[in-house]
Amino acid sequence: MKTRITEKFGIKYPIMSAPMGPFYTTKLAVATSEAGGLGVISHATLRGKNSVEDFKAQLDYVVEHTDKPFGFNVRTARVQTDHKILVRKIPEWRDKNPKLKEQLIYGLTSAGGPRKAAAMWKKKAPDMYHFHVGPALWLVDKIVESGCDGIVATGIEGGGHQSYENISTLVLTQQVAQKYPEKLLVSCGGYASPEGVAAGLAMGADAVAMGTRFIASSDSEFHQNYKDLIPPASARDTILTTGGFGPIRLLKNQYALEHGEVVSKTEKIAQEQAFTMDEYLEDLHHYEIVYTEGDVKNGAIPVGQSAGLIDDIRDVDDIISSFTKKTEKIFKDICSRLS
Ligand SMILES: Cc1cc2nc3c(=O)[nH]c(=O)nc-3n(C[C@H](O)[C@H](O)[C@H](O)COP(=O)(O)O)c2cc1C
Repeated sequence: MKTRITEKFGIKYPIMSAPMGPFYTTKLAVATSEAGGLGVISHATLRGKNSVEDFKAQLDYVVEHTDKPFGFNVRTARVQTDHKILVRKIPEWRDKNPKLKEQLIYGLTSAGGPRKAAAMWKKKAPDMYHFHVGPALWLVDKIVESGCDGIVATGIEGGGHQSYENISTLVLTQQVAQKYPEKLLVSCGGYASPEGVAAGLAMGADAVAMGTRFIASSDSEFHQNYKDLIPPASARDTILTTGGFGPIRLLKNQYALEHGEVVSKTEKIAQEQAFTMDEYLEDLHHYEIVYTEGDVKNGAIPVGQSAGLIDDIRDVDDIISSFTKKTEKIFKDICSRLS
């Protein structure tokens, strides 16, 4: 199954793992790339003296465990205080390590602006594809203006951080494909089935990215208590609430229900400016207790509506190979019905 992305990135299948900070997706990235997709490591740390070294350790881990291409995410949000240094350091690390330079082919920025990373990476890592997450067409216009190679069109049904825009993946993917046919396009949010992958490609995406489907895999490093919540969850079991960088889609549990309604963008910016870093870290603690202790009651559990499509925990290799086989069959069946 060839697309512009499989050809340019040198991968077998048009499937990516979505980044899922503050959780680690390092082993998940290895498994995804090994299975023929593109694994993406997450920006798992908020700040702290070791966060940059920690990020480098994740990159080193992946190149030690696979020879396949992979990518990373940097969240360029205001409160993500290590992002500027990461944007500068990543090309330096690539230049010093030929294996990293060869394999680290995809840099995805999100949660803030793409401009500074685009300017830096065009100069210092021109062979690395830079994409940015776009949740609405007017924001995609800005991504294109900033010179990114591609867009990850992410709709409101997706898990984790969302924007205030409320646009579905279905509408957004078509809008971006129609307006910017020359740009590489990844469609994301709500994918957890071969039918979904086929639909994403049919809408003009060069690949689809999945988060929740891969959490519920034996290869992801998410706590077993977290994984176990996904197969029984229905599409109605998530809510949008206020997160660190704006609205966030979480599984309904005690934390999510107590955390309250989404505050407006203006209120959120005011809240961020009034927040001390300690308050911010206290909120992050609710994410940490999920992966350190598996506390799925008091912790925050980002999950997409796609949970309603998932009824098992499987190997990444099995997910990717069964999805792509069935996707091909869907296309062949549709073609056979054309006269
Ligand atoms: C646990 C979790 C954490 C996430 N953290 C990030 C992140 O750090 N950066 C980012 O760009 N997107 C993040 N996202 C969004 C995903 O990259 C992706 O858009 C989303 O999972 C797609 O929806 P799906 O879960 O239905 O596949 C996160 C999603 C989840 C479920």
